[in-house]
Amino acid sequence: MKRGIELYSAKEIEKIRRACQIVAEVLSIVAESVKPGISAWDIEMIAREEAKKRGGKPAFLNYRPPFAPDPYPAATCVSINDEVVHGLPKKERLIKEGDLVSVDFGVIIDGYAGDSAITVAVGEIDEDKKRLMEATKVALDRAVNEAYAGNWLSRLVETIHSTAEEYGVFPVQKYGGHGIGKKVHEEPFVPNNRKDLHKKDVKFKRGMVIAIEPMFALGTENTYHDGDGWTVKTSDGSPSAHFEHTVAITKEGPLVLTEL
Ligand code: MF3
Ligand code: CO
Repeated sequence: MKRGIELYSAKEIEKIRRACQIVAEVLSIVAESVKPGISAWDIEMIAREEAKKRGGKPAFLNYRPPFAPDPYPAATCVSINDEVVHGLPKKERLIKEGDLVSVDFGVIIDGYAGDSAITVAVGEIDEDKKRLMEATKVALDRAVNEAYAGNWLSRLVETIHSTAEEYGVFPVQKYGGHGIGKKVHEEPFVPNNRKDLHKKDVKFKRGMVIAIEPMFALGTENTYHDGDGWTVKTSDGSPSAHFEHTVAITKEGPLVLTEL
């Protein structure tokens, strides 16, 4: 962890992009498959199969993230409604009309990783959930535009946090984005909530690659861990949304690698 922030060459960024493109393709197929009656585990199976077809190795399956004591037992994180992030996909969990389903997926190919997440609205969702989705998407778009050389991490975080405030929703504390490249989780941590900013800021440099992943909830910044040891839920049971892109900081500015 003390090694600091990796800087990637254009060649390496091209490799990260390959992983990211597989992730984007898989997530677009997943987005179309999320329908009432399918299970969270069905989503997991679709993602595994589509990644395999494309030669990508699921990055999360059996991977132990730096924040966890055990390896993660699935390829996707499927977080539904009050589940914020790291939702463990389960066979018995059926998707229903009105759900907000976040699917987070990563791939490794040729030694480089890509990571992205989308939230899918199942059928008709209520106005509050629409506002929450919109806020989270807008925050990601705005944050991407802050990922340029010479800018500061704190400004990107401020953009995410203030976007949540503008929409009257809450940036979840403790969870956020991260550097990515040779490993899924690298430095720096990219918070969504300004309370999680450290005193020491980070100045963005060309060659940095970061995953930006706002997670907003309708009623609270606070979460707890569910009984399965992975799934993170909102403390008040309110719904949450999550969008994530892997972004390279290049000479030309931010380059979203997980966009088709
Ligand atoms: N995109 C998720 C994150 O950055 C990936 C979770 S890794 C897992 O936190 F192993 F916990 F699934
Ligand atoms: Co991530």
